[in-house]
Parts: sequence; structure tokens; C-alpha cells
Amino acid sequence: MRQFSRRWWYSDEHVGALRALPRRATAVLFMRKDYLEAAIEIAREAGKILLEEFDRPAQITYKGDVDLVTQADKRSEEAIVTRLTKYFPEHSIAAEEGTGHDGGSEFRWHVDPLDGTTNFAHGYPCFSISIALAQRGALLAGVVYNPFYDELFAAARGGGATLNGKRIFVSKVDTLATSLLCTGFPVHKRLANPNIHYYWDFTLRSHGVRRDGSAAMDLASVAAGRFDGFWEFGLKAWDTAAGVLLIEEAGGKVSDFNGQPYELGGAVILATNGLIHEEARGVALEISKRDPAAPLRR
Ligand code: IPD
Ligand code: CA
Ligand code: CA
Repeated sequence: MRQFSRRWWYSDEHVGALRALPRRATAVLFMRKDYLEAAIEIAREAGKILLEEFDRPAQITYKGDVDLVTQADKRSEEAIVTRLTKYFPEHSIAAEEGTGHDGGSEFRWHVDPLDGTTNFAHGYPCFSISIALAQRGALLAGVVYNPFYDELFAAARGGGATLNGKRIFVSKVDTLATSLLCTGFPVHKRLANPNIHYYWDFTLRSHGVRRDGSAAMDLASVAAGRFDGFWEFGLKAWDTAAGVLLIEEAGGKVSDFNGQPYELGGAVILATNGLIHEEARGVALEISKRDPAAPLRR
């Protein structure tokens, strides 16, 4: 990313094109926003919509037996997709409610317009908007925003992670026994999910395990040192993309239970402050040897 003036940036993808273009066209390209700045602006805009909807009785429909979708999810996604498409028309967008598009670009935005819909629908103010950009799977920028508490977590690859503009870092807790953990349970195929076994074991081996209901916020909380570790099965790329970058930029570690790098949308994610990673992974492997769904059959 290169800065043209205090407000305007252009990205490396445009450098070649810039050289080849006449002067007037380059002026248009300079108007493109920095990816992170754009994601922040759009998340704040979507946040206003969520807050408006939070004050109204929720209009709930169901995608599965407990998979809720509200008017808020849809309005938020419409606002995000419209704005991203305006700023980056050639980029692909994978958005949870299905209104994104795939033009075959190597740049892909991963959008969860409302992470924590169940909390939202019940008036529990732990929910967020998650927006991240990846280039061929490599994360470049990510934002997780909880509009109720006005907490905006942001990260750009190589630029560190921030909460409301202030640098954040993972915790320094270095034993599982003294850690506070977090996890989540899916809204689909609930009986097939083995997580209750992991929940039981990790609860007995730590200060406790929270289940807060927004995976994006859970990951952002690891990045900010509020939780020392998080794991979950079956999350989608739009749940994790921004949070993973936040944790990496805050000094933490993200992998699967085998220690392989976590791939967006992978079957299992283990994200920690780094210091308890191997210990937590050891416990997870021990449980999977007893077979709690042998990490979803890989
Ligand atoms: C859900 C939340 C929850 C997690 C579920 C997700 P949604 O996302 O992130 O914390 O446990 O697996 O599906 O449906 O509220 O966007
Ligand atoms: Ca989600
Ligand atoms: Ca969602």
C-alpha cells in the first residue's frame, strides 16, 4: 500500500496499471481507498444499521432449526456489499447472507454482516460485524466492530492490531491452568458436533471457558488479551478471517489441532496468545485420540 496524500492511497495491485495509464485515468485510481480504511468506514456504517435494528423488535426467520436470520443481517450485508462493490468493483465478495459475487478476482472480501445473530435477537449485546480482505488466501486487512460498545478492532498485514486506534497485544498468560478460554457451538448439525467433550476437559484444566456467541468477537478478544485462547469446529471464513489477522498482528498464534497453519474455512481453529498454544493443542489431541469426532474426520 502506498500513500499518495494524507487521505488517499493506492495499492500495490495498481502500481503496474498506473505506469501504463494516461494521467487522467491515474487520478481515478488514486481515488481508491486504502483497504483497511475502507473496511473501517464500511463497518461503522453497518454498525449504525445494527444499532437501529437492535432497538426494534427482531424480525426473525430461520435458515435451520436454530439458525436465525434477522432483518438486521440482511440490511447490514446490503450496505457492506454495496459499498465494497463501489470502492473495489473488481474484487470478489463472500458474504454470509449470499449477496456477494465472485468475478474470479484474486482479491476476496469475507463478510459477516452480523456475527452473533442469536445474541442480537435476544438483546444480548455481544455481536459484531466482521470484514476482511484476502489476496489468494493471504489476509491483508481485517476489522471486527461491536457497535453497541463502540469497539473497533482493526489490523493490516504487517501494521499491527488496534482497538479504537490503540495498539493491542495478546496476553502473557503462559499456562493453561491459569488461562481464560473461549469457544463456540454451531447452529447446524448440533448433535454431530463433538465440542462438548473439549468444553468439559478445557473447563477443568483452566480458569474457565466462556461461550460468548460471536466467533469474530471471541477472536478479537484473544487479540486484545481478554481471552488467552479460543477454539471452535466448523466456522466459516467470514467468521474467522478478520479475527485471525487481528491475532497474528497482536502476536498470537493460529493453527489447527495438528499444528498446521489454519486455512480460512478449515474444520477446526485453535487460536491462542502463542504461549499456551502447544499445551492447549496437546489437550485437544488427547481428546481427539479418544475420538470426539476425530477433528471432524479431517
Ligand atoms: C455464529 C457465531 C457463534 C458461533 C457459530 C457461528 P452467526 O455466527 O459466530 O459464536 O459459535 O458457530 O455460526 O450465525 O451469528 O453469524
Ligand atoms: Ca458468523
Ligand atoms: Ca452472521
